[in-house]
Amino acid sequence: MKITPTSRALVTGGASGLGLGLALVKQLAERGARVVATDIHDEPPAELAALDGVTYLTLDVTDDVHWARARDWVVENWDGLDLVFNNAGVAAGGRIELTEMDQWQWIVDINLLGVARGCRTFTPMLKEQGSGHIVNTASAAGLIHPPRMSEYNSVKAAVVALSETLFHELKPFGVQVSVICPTFFKTKLTDSLRGKDEAAQASAAKLIDRSKRTADDIAAVVLEQVEKDTHIILTDRDGKVAYFAKRFLRPLYYRQMAKAAVQMARKD
Ligand SMILES: NC(=O)c1ccc[n+]([C@@H]2O[C@H](COP(=O)([O-])OP(=O)(O)OC[C@H]3O[C@@H](n4cnc5c(N)ncnc54)[C@H](O)[C@@H]3O)[C@@H](O)[C@H]2O)c1
Repeated sequence: MKITPTSRALVTGGASGLGLGLALVKQLAERGARVVATDIHDEPPAELAALDGVTYLTLDVTDDVHWARARDWVVENWDGLDLVFNNAGVAAGGRIELTEMDQWQWIVDINLLGVARGCRTFTPMLKEQGSGHIVNTASAAGLIHPPRMSEYNSVKAAVVALSETLFHELKPFGVQVSVICPTFFKTKLTDSLRGKDEAAQASAAKLIDRSKRTADDIAAVVLEQVEKDTHIILTDRDGKVAYFAKRFLRPLYYRQMAKAAVQMARKD
């Protein structure tokens, strides 16, 4: 689906300074699309408020009432929707024995059920229109599963599974589904990191903070691939290498994962 000035898009997690959501909002607006940028905060950041064609709505992706309100806004103001970006997310990591159940519930509610809620809310509208594109942000961690990231890997793999399910389920109704699978890129995701495993969190934070890739780089690839109706969007070389190694060179992939686990264990 070509993104044009008639396109109407909703983006969750769209208000973080360095985040993918805001980068998507900005690049959609640059293409002339109308955008509802949403996030958990009551007020949008100044950078977002200044964008032409962008409306801000508070939407906590764990709250069904907020989703219903967003749907009502879309119906009243646009009478339809072309693009739904289920992008909001948080991070958690660490050795399995140091994870806690409230942390699992927290990340499942935001990273998986937040996406499921977005899909449930807007699928009836898109099916009725016979058009539209759902774009879910997973991660390369949804396709390849390095050690000491059990919660994050699990919810992101579930987002990949949900997206693949809907890709087939909704295609007969003219609705496209994509899933974004980046490796690390520099954002504020580390601010959300939760968990008792400080060493694992420090190394995840280092990978995010030191990445040369920016959210703008990722957003540009995403929009280009959305326009091509790509289902699994691998945004960078590292992710492509790891994904194809897992698919086609499984013994090599397993050796790399085992090596990483041993290196981590040595540091304990
Ligand atoms: N940064 C990375 O290295 C990386 C890699 C792969 C995937 N991702 C994914 O990209 C997505 C965007 O993250 P980011 O890196 O831009 O981080 P970010 O922290 O900059 O942005 C995440 C946004 O989600 C919002 N959010 C958190 N909880 C929410 C809730 N309950 N309801 C609504 N909004 C909520 C935050 O306020 C924030 O604006 C996430 O799904 C993340 O898992 C990030």
